Amino acid sequence: MTLQNDLLLRTARGELTERIPVWMMRQAGRVLAEYRAVREKAGSFITLAKTPELAAEVTIQPVDAFGVDAAIIFSDILVIPEAMGLPYEMIESRGPVFPETVRSKADLKRLRVADAESDLGYVLDAIKLTKKELDGRVPLIGFAGAPFTIFCYMTEGKGSKTFSVAKKLLYTDPDFAHALLQQITDSTIAYLKAQIRSGVNLVQLFDSWAGILSPEQYRTFSLPYIKQICDLITDVPITVFAKGAFFARHEIGQLSCDVVGLDWNMDPHESRQLIPDRVLQGNLDPCVLYADFAQIRAEAKRMISAFGHQHYIANLGHGIYPDTDPDKARCFIDAVKEFGAA
Ligand code: CP3
Repeated sequence: MTLQNDLLLRTARGELTERIPVWMMRQAGRVLAEYRAVREKAGSFITLAKTPELAAEVTIQPVDAFGVDAAIIFSDILVIPEAMGLPYEMIESRGPVFPETVRSKADLKRLRVADAESDLGYVLDAIKLTKKELDGRVPLIGFAGAPFTIFCYMTEGKGSKTFSVAKKLLYTDPDFAHALLQQITDSTIAYLKAQIRSGVNLVQLFDSWAGILSPEQYRTFSLPYIKQICDLITDVPITVFAKGAFFARHEIGQLSCDVVGLDWNMDPHESRQLIPDRVLQGNLDPCVLYADFAQIRAEAKRMISAFGHQHYIANLGHGIYPDTDPDKARCFIDAVKEFGAA
C-alpha cells in the first residue's frame, strides 16, 4: 500500500524532504481523554494492550487528535520479558512490577527465547489491524526496549531511580548478565522481524535506562547488543534512542542505524558534530508543553533552527507527560509543521 504521508520514512532514509516530520513519544496514552475512555472500558492496561481492536483504536487516536506524521503501535517494551516467561503486572500509579525476577544463571532455566508468532501474536494482530485502519494515512512505527533496559526490569523487578540491583549484577556476575542480555537480544530480533512482516514501516529501540551506565559499562553491556539488532534489521529504517547516553552519541552514530534519538540534555549542534551522518530525532523537553502557547511555539522554532530543516525528525526528548494539556501538544505539532517547511 502506498502511503499518503511518507515524510517520516523519506527523512529516516536520509532523503531531503519538503517539511520536517513530527511525532511524539508516548503520544498514545493518558494525555488523551479518548484514550482514558478506552482504557476504562478495557479495565486494565494489559487487557488494552492484548486486545488488538482496542490497541489499534488507541494507536490511531493521536493521528486524529494531533495530526502527527506517524503512529506508534500501542504496546509496551515489557511484553518481551513476558514472552520469555516472566510476566509483568501494571500497578496503578506505581508502574510495572515483575512478581518474579531473574538474578542468576540458575534462574535462566525458567526463561526461553520468545517465539514472536505464538507468544506475541496479539501485538502482530494489532499491527495488522492498525495498518488496515490507518489505510495509508501515515507510517506505523514498531518498537522494542533495548536489551539493557529490559535486563533492568527483569532483574530489578520494578522501576527504580538507580537500578542498583541490575547494575550490581554487571559487576558481580557478568557472565550471567551477558547470557541474559543475549537471550533478550535474540528474542527482540525475532520480535522486531515479526513486527516488520506484520507491516510496521520503521522500528525504534528504547534504551530508557542507558544513562545509568558509565561509558565503559555502556560499551560492554548495552552497545554490542544494540549493534546485533541494528545489523539484522535491514528491511526498514531503525532508530536508536538511548536516554541519558550523551557520552555514547558518537558510537551510537557508528551503528548501522538510520536515526539517532536525543533527549533534551543533548545539545543539537554538538550532537550533529558527534553524529555527522545520521538523521537526528528529538529533543524538546516534555515540560515545555506546560508553558504558554507563545512559548511552546518559540521553543519549537528554536529547536528547529538548531537542528536544521533536513535529516531531522522533530519529537520530544522523552515521552509526553500524562498531565499535559492536549491543546499544548497540538500547538507543538502545528508549530513544527509551520516552522519546519523547507
Ligand atoms: O509511544 C507510544 O505512544 C506507544 C506506547 C508505549 C507505551 N510504553 C505505552 C504505555 C511505548 C512506546 C512504551 C515504551 C515503554 N514502556 C518504555 C520506553 C520508553 C520510555 O518511557 O522510556 C518504558 C521504560 C516502559 C515501561 C513502562 N510502561 C513504565 C515505566 C510504565 C509506567 C509509567 C507510566 O507512564 O504509567 C508503563 C506503562 C505504560 N506504557 C502506559 C502507557 C500508555 C501507562 C499505563 C496506563 O495507561 O495505565
